[in-house]
Amino acid sequence: ASDVQAAPPQMGFNNWNSTHCRDEFNETMIRGIADKFISLGLRDAGYTYVNIDDCWANWQRDKNENLQPNPKRFPAGIKALADYIHQHGLKFGLYSSAGTSTCEPLQENRGFPGGLGHEKQDAATIAAWNVDYLKYDNCNNQKVDAIQRYTAMAEALRATARPIFFSVCEWGENKPWTWAGKPPVDAGSWRSTGDISDSYASMLKNFKQNVVLDRYATPGHYNDPDMLEVGNGGMSDTEYRSHFSLWSIMAAPLLIGTDLRKIKPDALKILLNKEVIAVDQDPMGVQGKQVRDSDGIHVLVKPLNDGSRAVAVFNENDTQRDVAVSDAETGLTARSSYNVRDLWAHTQAKGDGTLKVHLQAHETAIYRISRL
Ligand code: DGJ
Repeated sequence: ASDVQAAPPQMGFNNWNSTHCRDEFNETMIRGIADKFISLGLRDAGYTYVNIDDCWANWQRDKNENLQPNPKRFPAGIKALADYIHQHGLKFGLYSSAGTSTCEPLQENRGFPGGLGHEKQDAATIAAWNVDYLKYDNCNNQKVDAIQRYTAMAEALRATARPIFFSVCEWGENKPWTWAGKPPVDAGSWRSTGDISDSYASMLKNFKQNVVLDRYATPGHYNDPDMLEVGNGGMSDTEYRSHFSLWSIMAAPLLIGTDLRKIKPDALKILLNKEVIAVDQDPMGVQGKQVRDSDGIHVLVKPLNDGSRAVAVFNENDTQRDVAVSDAETGLTARSSYNVRDLWAHTQAKGDGTLKVHLQAHETAIYRISRL
């Protein structure tokens, strides 16, 4: 056990995976999401941030060059939305890009204003709107050096009176794991991959890119393999449980990407699994390490603050498997006795440091193992 109280990976919601820029993305939706955080028990489970993504802004800056919201989507303005979210005991996140404009719309020959060259002014606006979090994308960056671009915004945010969580969304292009978590950028997280989509293949691809980066995560500074797709319908519940288990043992940000006003009970149950969330949020802030990657079987081990360990066993294959995990892999001693808690079945058994696991195709078992 340690006394370190690192900021755990951020938890919350972002609208992108469920709406992209469709008209349904507007202040009615986002207020409804904040309401659901309370009524569905998400706030109590640790989800804190309600974040909005690209397409919130108006096409042009105002006459003083300030950012302004799209008046159709956010007629009451961003500050009113932030205040609504704060009244729910939650925090509010906004989006911009470290470029001359943001990513959308992809086809039309115009875009929403980005922060490049406007860092101080935009940070001041964001702080004045009582924003708590900025996701800073990478589109239209004019090939300006990435460290320079993200440093400029990080410093501008710090120069405001408001603490604002900085989420670097650079897609892993310039190895952000080597610089984004350290001063002068000092971000809370950085995207390590391209965009996730709602399929098992996409989730698997992002997992594989992120899992090898464990040594770059430090307490309060995490690799981000992109937001959750749980609940969006493109994967089975088994696959969504794998997605949630793997993100948690990798100490990834847990940002819900489904419209909580329409979520089905099975998906909600996954997002509310407090024992899996506790693995993600462990105060030691360590990203689990992959100790086996062979024949489509992945074993990850994450040390936890109370001296126990989380162990995840993931079967990537399209057919079921019986897997034996040795004490050498789990790092436990076979001569001792352990309490093995299954975090999906919510059952426990006595174990000896080794594990025998039967896994369906695409299934992940995740355990918390502590010495008796
Ligand atoms: C690219 C990012 O990686 C996505 O998460 C999303 O923010 C879109 N841009 C929005 O345009």
